Amino acid sequence: MIPNCGHCRYCATGRQNLCDMGATILDGHMPDGTFRFHHGGEDLGAMCMLGTFSQYSTISQNSAVKVDESIPLETAALVGCGVPTGWGTAVYEGNVRVGDTTVIYGVGGLGANTVQGAVLAGAKHVVVVDPNPFKRDTALKFGATHAFAAAEEARKAVTELTRGQGADQALILVGTVDEAVVQAAFDIIGKGGTVVVTGLANPEKLTVHVSGAVLTLWEKTIKGSLFGGCNPQYDIVKLLGLYQAGQLKLDELITQKYRLDEVNQGYQDLVDGKNIRGVLVHEH
Ligand SMILES: NC(=O)c1ccc[n+]([C@@H]2O[C@H](COP(=O)([O-])OP(=O)(O)OC[C@H]3O[C@@H](n4cnc5c(N)ncnc54)[C@H](O)[C@@H]3O)[C@@H](O)[C@H]2O)c1
Repeated sequence: MIPNCGHCRYCATGRQNLCDMGATILDGHMPDGTFRFHHGGEDLGAMCMLGTFSQYSTISQNSAVKVDESIPLETAALVGCGVPTGWGTAVYEGNVRVGDTTVIYGVGGLGANTVQGAVLAGAKHVVVVDPNPFKRDTALKFGATHAFAAAEEARKAVTELTRGQGADQALILVGTVDEAVVQAAFDIIGKGGTVVVTGLANPEKLTVHVSGAVLTLWEKTIKGSLFGGCNPQYDIVKLLGLYQAGQLKLDELITQKYRLDEVNQGYQDLVDGKNIRGVLVHEH
């Protein structure tokens, strides 16, 4: 999903997820400014410089990650964005440690992997909040210890579980971030706790409104996260290695597979909350 050039300030300091080349992934042109998709004489952008709804695509070497040939592409595809972003939100950005209490808001395609990351990192309590019962059930199968439909229920439970100390991390992976979920996350963490905002929000809206006094006096942290702080070259390969070792569930993330001519049904199912992950499979 994120190209990494290896040379910019961010790549050169181990923050490949922030590669300067990421600035144009939505325009979808190659690093030299030229396009590889055309229609009726017009240039067309390739989503994330990849354009994976086409059977074939020319991609930049900066977008290529070599993976073990034995791994089916349908499985490897999951690790292009959702799995590292979710997993890294817990492991790298939230810095979940053994014995922590971790709260995850939104357990869809990304959040299910945040659950896996928190469990692998040793969290004692992995508390999830999602209004969708199918997503909650899946999170419990992925290792969550408690699941709630509403943030307030989670707050009461976490207060009790931690004897009033609050959670160590609150990780936000809801479909559309709003003020209410940020406020709930900020309130559920205790002293020194961290809120990570990975879900995206309407860029026109201000969505982070918290008490500055509590932020200071309780030394709370609120941070954003792109690609879960992962390095595409290193972490994609690492996560596939964990899958091969049986420590990371990937196939279980796929609720439904679609052919290219079923892509609109795939979007509808996504909107209807039916899928953890829908995968488009090209027939050759
Ligand atoms: N930061 C990044 O690098 C990055 C990368 C990819 C995607 N994203 C963003 O991450 C978010 C999640 O993506 P996804 O693919 O997992 O989406 P998804 O639709 O699969 O899952 C979102 C989940 O949030 C739940 N939800 C909605 N409102 C909620 C609320 N108020 N409280 C609790 N749960 C709630 C939904 O029921 C759903 O299960 C999106 O905003 C997406 O754009 C961020």
